[in-house]
Amino acid sequence: MILPASAPESIAAAADQIRAGKLLGLPTETVYGLAANADDDAAVAQIFRAKGRPADHPLIVHVAHGGAVAHYASEVPEFAQKLMQAFWPGPLTLILPRRPGVANAAAGGNPSIGLRCPSHPVAQALLTALFEAAGAGPEALPVWGLAAPSANQFGRVSPTTAAHVQGEFGDDLLILDGGACQVGIESTIIDCTRGQPVLLRPGAITPDQVQTVCGLNMLSKEELLAHAAPAPKASGTLESHYAPSATVRLMTAKDLKTALTLLGHESPSQEVRPSIAVYSRTVRAKPSVHVLYRRMPDDAASTAQQLFAALRDFDAQGVKLIWIETLPDDPLWDGVRDRLQRAAC
Ligand code: TXA
Ligand code: MG
Repeated sequence: MILPASAPESIAAAADQIRAGKLLGLPTETVYGLAANADDDAAVAQIFRAKGRPADHPLIVHVAHGGAVAHYASEVPEFAQKLMQAFWPGPLTLILPRRPGVANAAAGGNPSIGLRCPSHPVAQALLTALFEAAGAGPEALPVWGLAAPSANQFGRVSPTTAAHVQGEFGDDLLILDGGACQVGIESTIIDCTRGQPVLLRPGAITPDQVQTVCGLNMLSKEELLAHAAPAPKASGTLESHYAPSATVRLMTAKDLKTALTLLGHESPSQEVRPSIAVYSRTVRAKPSVHVLYRRMPDDAASTAQQLFAALRDFDAQGVKLIWIETLPDDPLWDGVRDRLQRAAC
């Protein structure tokens, strides 16, 4: 069931759901999450079941503010504190050493924990309501954080609207509708357990921003692997992820033009549905009997914001192939590039 987050009773109803050990569809500024009380292993186990996610694949825990970090993390290096001050609330997840015995299921048994403080006002309102103890009995206990992976079946495209979440999990799931997500791709993930920042997943917050705030060099996952340290588990380490049902191909503008010329420009028809979607900035494909065209925005932030909705929309229209123009060679596009390269695997 979808609850408009703006309705007066919605936050309280969502908080009750979490306190009862149940799951909730939660809007954040990046993508929607499938949330449960991070300290309730049985509730967290339902997340893994609902998503079809392997139980050793750790979840991100969302907190209302930096004050909840010490509940989950045994140690916060100075550079991680600087990152929290600079980017929280916001689309940045920090991997920190986990306090033994806390949020074991959410961490997938790992000795570390991923923490993020989301900026979405609805996520903030819910996390604050859960954290602030009120009344007597079990309601008086604070809920320190919400474990929430993206609210999609394992390996599929992340949801950026409440309707996407409902499409993934059906009408039984309570979903807070906080509108379309502003950032549109998942948070930047930085491993802070290795003495210097290591980028596990690119996102809206860029390596340059991280390095400037930390005053430290950031290693990439590949550089970390070259140092022969054991690879951390992140979605980024799975090759095919964020995949729509249609096959995705990245193509240069030149190849895209050639392919479109070969297809010809037969006019669109009612009877035949196009089997190819074209998503491109510089090549303007005419809609035709073969081709459905959607223009990619010129800037990385707008493209990130609409990317997953566009991929879902192409699937809904039944195309078999999605041709996407390769992206500008600029670090600002790294988050979108990462998702598209995975979708094209
Ligand atoms: O923007 C986001 O991060 C969204 C929203 C809902 O907050 N969440 C999200 O969660 O993308 P999920 O589970 O789809 O991706 C989280 C990634 C996983 O690939 C997981 O492996 C990694 O974070 N992760 C979580 N805890 C970790 C840990 N202790 N060590 C290494 N990686 C971890
Ligand atoms: Mg995910």
